[in-house]
Amino acid sequence: MRIDIVTGLPGLLVSPLEESIVRRAQEKGLVEIHVHNLRDYAHDKHRSIDDTPYGGGSGMILKPEPIFECLEGLKEERNYDDIVFMSPEGGRLTQNVANELSLRSNLIVLCGHYKGIDDRVRQSLITREISIGDYVLTGGELAAAVLVDAVVRLIPGVLNASESALTDSFQDGLLGYPEYTRPAEFRGMKVPEELLSGDHNRIELWREEQRQKRTRERRKDLLESRHE
Ligand code: ADE
Repeated sequence: MRIDIVTGLPGLLVSPLEESIVRRAQEKGLVEIHVHNLRDYAHDKHRSIDDTPYGGGSGMILKPEPIFECLEGLKEERNYDDIVFMSPEGGRLTQNVANELSLRSNLIVLCGHYKGIDDRVRQSLITREISIGDYVLTGGELAAAVLVDAVVRLIPGVLNASESALTDSFQDGLLGYPEYTRPAEFRGMKVPEELLSGDHNRIELWREEQRQKRTRERRKDLLESRHE
């Protein structure tokens, strides 16, 4: 898989892409991530990527020219399955959306910044708008890092068997079960005896009950949408 991230602030993406599992996925050749600085596509004296809004109003708007130049250049090189714009006005990022995007070959992720983006970019280039939640960030970079992290870990081969995404919370619409590690007793708190029993069926049954209980207590909405 190849992901091209287009941003006016590439520095914000450095460490999220260069640590841990996302780094390992790149080293293994399972994903190629390229970050493009929009300023490299701005040709005026000040290399400006934003301008004031027509009609007045506060804030600066991302200009169309650098974005069109960058995205059209990429599209000439290869076919993209989706051109995603990170925006609080997009559809919500869920585990299902991450699963779906992890099956794509080539993705562009465009980060918005400042107050907004010239709407002609939306009209001509964007195929999908994604939000990571109902709150406004200063820009799309951190949201893009969240999206890339959620997608990359699902690419086959990225996680090893012991890290498998199949048992993740949300993967089948339920939250996870409580986990414990040694010691069996810590400050008077004991690990549930089911987990120490060595009886695989009993452990599985306990885990399933705990997932149901946790989901019922914390996220009833997930149980309701599971049966829709
Ligand atoms: N850019 C600013 N806020 C955002 C959000 N909540 N999700 C995605 N991109 C954003």
